[in-house]
Amino acid sequence: MKTDVLGAAARRGIFLSPDALDYIMSNPDPVAFTNTAIASLSSDKMFISRSDIEDCLAGDTPIFTSPGTDVPRNKRQTDIEVLNGSDVTGNSTCEGDITDFTSYFRSRYDILSRIVSRRRDFGMSISIAKAMNLDRDVRVIGMVYDVNITKNGHIILTLEDAESNCKVFISKDSPLAGETFVSDEVIGIAGKPNGRRDLLIANEIFRPDVPRMNRWEASDSVSSVAFLSDVHVGSYTFLEDRWKRMVSWLKENAYKTDLNYIVFPGDVVDGIGIFPGQEEELRINDIYEQYEKLAEYLKDIPDHIKMVVHPGNHDAVRLAEPQPALGTMFTKTFDSNIMMVGNPVTLKIEDRVIQTYHGKSIDDWIAGVQKLTYDDPMGVMREMLRRRHLAPIYGQRTALAPEKKDYLAMETLPDLFVSGHIHGAGAGEYNGVKIINASTWQSQTEYQKMHNFNPEPAIMPVVHLGTGEINMRSFMD
Ligand SMILES: [Fe+2]
Ligand SMILES: [Fe+2]
Repeated sequence: MKTDVLGAAARRGIFLSPDALDYIMSNPDPVAFTNTAIASLSSDKMFISRSDIEDCLAGDTPIFTSPGTDVPRNKRQTDIEVLNGSDVTGNSTCEGDITDFTSYFRSRYDILSRIVSRRRDFGMSISIAKAMNLDRDVRVIGMVYDVNITKNGHIILTLEDAESNCKVFISKDSPLAGETFVSDEVIGIAGKPNGRRDLLIANEIFRPDVPRMNRWEASDSVSSVAFLSDVHVGSYTFLEDRWKRMVSWLKENAYKTDLNYIVFPGDVVDGIGIFPGQEEELRINDIYEQYEKLAEYLKDIPDHIKMVVHPGNHDAVRLAEPQPALGTMFTKTFDSNIMMVGNPVTLKIEDRVIQTYHGKSIDDWIAGVQKLTYDDPMGVMREMLRRRHLAPIYGQRTALAPEKKDYLAMETLPDLFVSGHIHGAGAGEYNGVKIINASTWQSQTEYQKMHNFNPEPAIMPVVHLGTGEINMRSFMD
């Protein structure tokens, strides 16, 4: 058994001191204990003593467990950070002139073309200008400038790279004819120029996408993260009683189930002047008071939980995306365990990459792509993942700020992708990436009634960071 324990430690590049080994061996399940304890170590020390292990375990829980009871509690330094370069807060450079747009789209092209060219099945690409002068099969990467359907039902794309553009022909009889293209997405094409060299006949399309072999790899993390989207504090339709029921559940269960993080993916308050006639629907019609009320609600959430808040389209920051974090004039009454970040943002929680985005562009996707509907937000999120972009369609309902860098490109492949905005609730998976639409804490609004939309409120998705298991916990009944 001792060798099993030493082996488990060695596989993680760790050497145990004799007192650490004795300590571990006094546990009824030394190997499981080792795995949990080592995963919880916050330092990157190579040589571990008994006191290092004691430090990483909760002082108030029994360290000695009997088989079949709880595993040792994890006091892993709760570990949450914003992935470098994923948050626009403090980094906004745009003033909205034409050069900003040029560098914004250049950045999008650079990020997404790099992802396409890294695809193992894609091979070497060349510039469009070069490709169109050759009489052989070629591969190019470009941004879709324009999509046209001819009167005979063929698709003609205008594809641009940094230097030039070309027309890409997709026959209505080709297996590619069912593909949907959106403007300003970046794609790779394998094809051959026609005899006149004015059309590239496409044989295959390569999107940035998520590799098909991608999987959620289990880890030793025992923590869970929950998502509470679209709280809409300040509205008459905010479901205070359901919210309180959820908070009592957290008080009762969060600590013992290691629910250590909560992320709020935007629309945390209802805001002011967001749509005509909103004042009729507001219980609190002062924006500062809405955030103060939210701060009060959040104080009831158990203190050990680290929280992250980013804005949505109802919040008090610029509407154009990426949105920076809420300003301190709104958040000064919030507790210090609440991190304010921009929208979208990529978080790293105990080594899991979590892309969170409020989801305003879902409106554009549904308006622009026939097969997508409000009933299936997961379908929209899959399309985002295929294109590795949250809001490729420029100039529709979602205003984009032309930052030097395209923060809406999904540069780092997430383990988990979360959005809100449409007040639906659902969980799914696409090529190993877990997808969640994170419900709302607001019942049906007048606007939704008019549009015949039924929200799915008061559901808290909880994701286990080790196993990836998702639990959609409803507080409706
Ligand atoms: Fe909302
Ligand atoms: Fe929203």
